[in-house]
Parts: sequence; C-alpha cells; structure tokens
Amino acid sequence: RIPVWLDCDPGHDDAFAILIAALHPSFNLLGISTIHGNSSLLKVTNNALSLLTAFGRPDVPVYPGSNKPFMRPAVHASEIHGDSGIDGTTLLPAPTSKPQTKPAVEAMRDAIMSTPKGTCALVVTGTMTNAALLFAAFPETANHIKAISIMGGGFTLGNITKTAEFNIYCDPESAASIFTLPALSNKIILAPLDLTHTVLVTPSVQKTLMSTPSTFRTMLYELLMFFSETYIQVFGMTEGPPLHDPVAVAALMDESFGMEFEFEETGVKIICNGEDMGRTVKVAEGEGVNEHEGKQVLGDGGLGVGEVKVKVGKKLNVAKFWEVVMDVVERADKV
Ligand code: BDR
Ligand code: CA
Repeated sequence: RIPVWLDCDPGHDDAFAILIAALHPSFNLLGISTIHGNSSLLKVTNNALSLLTAFGRPDVPVYPGSNKPFMRPAVHASEIHGDSGIDGTTLLPAPTSKPQTKPAVEAMRDAIMSTPKGTCALVVTGTMTNAALLFAAFPETANHIKAISIMGGGFTLGNITKTAEFNIYCDPESAASIFTLPALSNKIILAPLDLTHTVLVTPSVQKTLMSTPSTFRTMLYELLMFFSETYIQVFGMTEGPPLHDPVAVAALMDESFGMEFEFEETGVKIICNGEDMGRTVKVAEGEGVNEHEGKQVLGDGGLGVGEVKVKVGKKLNVAKFWEVVMDVVERADKV
C-alpha cells in the first residue's frame, strides 16, 4: 500500500479524492490536512470530518491547516460548491471525530518522516499554502517523499479566470515556491484542468452510481447533482461536471490497475501578477531566473531558482477511473 497524506478543501470533488485515498486497497491514508479554498477553513475541516464519518473512516486524523495565503486574502468558491463547500444533501452525517490540535504542517512532517524514504506520496487537491509551508519549514520532507500529486493549473483553459485554475489562483506564490523547489524535481505530478475535463460525471456515470440504491449512494448522487447544476449555471457545461480532484489520487495508482496515466515532462511556471495571475505556463526545465550570486544555476542546481521537472498528466483510462470510483463507493456502502 502506498502511504498517502491528503491535503484538501472539501469540496464535492475533494470528497471523492478522500473516498479513494481512504478506501482503496492501493493506499494507506495517514492523515488529512485541510486548507482554505472552496470554503472557509472551519467549514472545509468540518466537511472532511463528516465525509470520513460517512465513509466509515473516522479514525483518519484531520488537521486544520492555513486559513489564508501568506500574501493575499482567501478566495472561496461558493458559486460552485455552495456556502458550506459541500452543499446539496441533508444526508451527510455529523462528524463522530474532532479536528486534531497539532499544527497541520508538523503532523504532515511527522507522518511523512515515519514512512520509509521514497515511499510516501503527498496529494494536494486544494490551494498550495500548507504544502509550501511544509517544505519551507521542514525541507527534509521534500527529499523524503516519493511524489507530490497536485490537482491544479490548466494549459488550454482556466476556471476562475479565462487563464487561471482555482487552486493555483488562490495562492500563486505558494504554488510557485513548489514548482521551483529543486528537491521536488521529477517528483511533482500535476493533474491540470485539461486532463480533469476528460473525467465527466455524465448521466451514464450517475446511472451506474444509482444502479443499486442506498442512502449512502443517494447522498453521493445528491452531491454530484448539486455540482452538476452549478457547472451548468456557471460554465454552461451540460455534459456533466469534471470530477477534478480524484484524478490526482488515481495518478498514483500502480500500473497493474490499468489507469494508463500518461504524462509529459516539463517545467511549469506560475504567473503571480497581472491579468493572467494564477496561470500555469509550460517552460523548459531551469528556464526563468537562472542567476544566483552571479553564477548561472539550472533548475536542479540546488538553489531553487528555476522551474523543476514536472510530470504533467495528459491522459488516463477514463473507464478504469470510474471503475475505481465505483469500487470504493461499494466498499464504503458496505461499512
Ligand atoms: C479545483 O478547484 C476546486 O474548486 C475543486 O475542488 C478542485 O480542487 C478545480 O479547479
Ligand atoms: Ca479541491
């Protein structure tokens, strides 16, 4: 099992990232940290606890992280996820566990460092403030992890502005600090909008979900219907909403599962200002600012001054993805 830490802002699609990480036999979910984003830190933390209760995994510890970026006010996405961050159903149970009191980045460090070197994956399905803080405060964690899999960015489309994706837009400086961290070269996996927009909750997916009715499935269905409705209202997407976040979890699955995750290796530059703020741009590795104390330094030169190599997801086996989702739904429904 892959030891995994999930940093998230649930969120309708984050809910499914939690479901896979918590229930699929490929993963050993060590803990969850929450981050400002789809709603306030308080609300997304409560959502994470409530979802874990619904999934039969209240044993997974939840740590509230940052409630805002360092340099900006927090931005929330109530037009997509409702005021609570996960509107649309009355069937979500009250949490049976409480948020942990240890600071999130300390908990992340402790959990990551307790795993054998090169085995643990960090999944980020929200904005990157916690992750940036983790690597800045505890740089050993960047060397220790096997991978960091992020849902974020978009190269041919945006969703919060014409050119920017929400998770990057909310805290572009934190994102930039990660995409230029030499210790993470070759370890970053990115699931951008270009890829997540191939994973749509179509009517056929909805039908499969409800093929064996249960209260649990109805709860998930109602959440997806709310998400579907806001995608119609805001984006005019009638074919079904993209289920972004679980793609970052699925990207980590062993090849034997047939996810057929294909990627391209490239540097990713984050635009932090101006009308393109939050935009992700592909660049050659080490491009950008290459000067440090008068010396030329490449991206992997150890000083963090250029974009590092990222595996940008291009394709996955969509049918397989839904099989995995339905598999964990079935497991949770039995609990
Ligand atoms: C991302 O933004 C959030 O609203 C979703 O949960 C997802 O992580 C998609 O741009
Ligand atoms: Ca999210």
